[in-house]
Amino acid sequence: MADLGLLVLLACVGVSQALNNGVALTPPMGFLDWERFRCNTDCVNDPDNCISEKLFMKMADIIAEEGYRELGYEYIGIDDCWPSKSRDADGNLVADPERFPNGILGLSEYVHSRGLKLGIYEDVGTKTCAGYPGSQDYIKQDAETFAKWELDLLKFDGCNTDPNRSAIHFPLMSQSLNATGRPILYTCEWWSGDQTQHSHYTRNSEYCNSWRTFNDLEDSWPSVLGVIQHYAKNAGDFISVSGPGSINDPDELIIGDFSLSYDQEKTQFGMWAMFAAPLYISADLRTMRPEAKSILQNRGVIAINQDPLVKGANMIKEIQNVQVWLKPLVKPESYAVAFFNPNSDGTPTRMSLTLAYITLTNQNGYNDTNVFDDVYKPSMYKPSGQFNVTVNPTGIVLVKAMPL
Ligand code: GLA
Repeated sequence: MADLGLLVLLACVGVSQALNNGVALTPPMGFLDWERFRCNTDCVNDPDNCISEKLFMKMADIIAEEGYRELGYEYIGIDDCWPSKSRDADGNLVADPERFPNGILGLSEYVHSRGLKLGIYEDVGTKTCAGYPGSQDYIKQDAETFAKWELDLLKFDGCNTDPNRSAIHFPLMSQSLNATGRPILYTCEWWSGDQTQHSHYTRNSEYCNSWRTFNDLEDSWPSVLGVIQHYAKNAGDFISVSGPGSINDPDELIIGDFSLSYDQEKTQFGMWAMFAAPLYISADLRTMRPEAKSILQNRGVIAINQDPLVKGANMIKEIQNVQVWLKPLVKPESYAVAFFNPNSDGTPTRMSLTLAYITLTNQNGYNDTNVFDDVYKPSMYKPSGQFNVTVNPTGIVLVKAMPL
């Protein structure tokens, strides 16, 4: 009965129109704590790493001071485990007072003073995935709270609900956020429905700015590889819904964490750029290794990710097991091309091919830049000319091909 009432409400407020809130016109970039810091609430014994305002203020400081902000990293994302275990007497969400003594509004004022934006996490169900109060039965009230706290992004998870409810509640949150008048990037983990169906992605893109496309990233190479192989299948053609305001999210960047090699870090960054994915760093920025930082701050790769066409790449060929991916860029006939080598047999794979073979056929030729090189090295190639590529095991070569 309650659901029926909500359906009537949705019909009245007209939620069926596409989400058009003017945000995420290019993939969002920033910091998100979950993969690296998880649900560490032990500020007594681990004060520097627990989920607290101190952690997010420090991350905001580093994003603002160490060159990240100027490159487009702007969202500071609080994931799960920020609230008190219960709502206040009026049903309002409250941040844990020990860990967030200035409340979320205080943190948001701080983050804004650093020229950045603040994001928060909630869940469509009765509880968040980690067991904190969920938004079910409080959706409108919570949306108003988020606007009052001057938040700029909501990650809305899908734990502790069922498909019938979430089919109503994800759109209701979309509508409720829009009704606040504050542009709040709405990213949803709306898993109900068959993820291999195109309708799953068109439905998500109607109500959300961004949505997860695969499992949670762990700090491991197999986890990153799993995402790339999932994108290679493009089950449900989710790539075709990628565009301004409509962003496929393969989860956070683990560059600068514990497990990836230098080549694998370049691969994750390069492929996330190709996917037109959000670039959310989930690493300890205080101890970021210089070479990991230089990957995260690579302007050429970021430009591919931020290309205004926001088209996700398609895998068009496999040559000697190396995957060739093509991402159309906004300038007509220009492409980012990724050669990704999933082989881990210890020696680089060498290939010789023509641009025509990978469908780059502009007769005047292309100016090709190896994007990960520090030095801009343009060189001209005709579609029929030989093009040599050497790709390290689990590595990537990323090329920008601009028509002459
Ligand atoms: C789910 C999400 C993660 C993270 C956790 C928090 O697993 O997919 O990204 O938000 O919940 O509990």
